[in-house]
Amino acid sequence: MDSNRHKLVILVGSVREGRFGPVVASWVAEQAAAHGAFDVGIVDLADLDIPLELPAASPKYAGDDYPRPAGMAALTSALEGADAFVVVSPEYNHSYPASLKAAIDWHFTQWTAKPVAFVSYGGAAGGRHAVLHLENVLTELHAVTIRDGLAFPNYYTAWEDGRPLDPGAPGYAKTLLEQLAWWAGALRAAREANPYPA
Ligand SMILES: Cc1cc2nc3c(=O)[nH]c(=O)nc-3n(C[C@H](O)[C@H](O)[C@H](O)COP(=O)(O)O)c2cc1C
Repeated sequence: MDSNRHKLVILVGSVREGRFGPVVASWVAEQAAAHGAFDVGIVDLADLDIPLELPAASPKYAGDDYPRPAGMAALTSALEGADAFVVVSPEYNHSYPASLKAAIDWHFTQWTAKPVAFVSYGGAAGGRHAVLHLENVLTELHAVTIRDGLAFPNYYTAWEDGRPLDPGAPGYAKTLLEQLAWWAGALRAAREANPYPA
């Protein structure tokens, strides 16, 4: 595989009826495709079966035998094959949606030593509380979180026709994607050279 190209998975974290998440994810996918370093895929949690009830064993130790529902297979293989992630998340009660937490908790090794960037949206805080919580949780799974995120406060007036009105937004996305590509390459080389000592 070309070491300058990275498999990017964009996760749509909200599953609410009438949600805005897919609009944000589409725009992020367009920015990532234009960037040139990524093979881009969108994984929408609303298309998957992600129950809240977990098996008795921890996914940390169960490896490939972890008994996940058949309807989750596309998510597991996307996470497994990814070199990098962008999590698209709204803010629900100063955190991120339960759908995203469930998707995270069904997996463990799939996140290890891989970079994750965040694009958030919401009311006045633009989803920043959600991202702070996501950074904390994903660090527990040995993921590497990217400093420069994109946050869209009051998205209902800040977007039109599927795009942010802020003319600076594509530039902020480019910075995020540059950092994500750098980490994707560095971490893939490191994983290939040596298994991560998790
Ligand atoms: C249960 C719930 C809690 C929310 N809590 C917050 C919040 O704490 N802060 C905020 O900025 N927006 C909050 N919102 C507004 C959401 O950010 C906004 O509805 C957004 O569109 C949700 O993303 P979605 O459309 O992809 O589901 C909340 C929305 C819901 C449904």
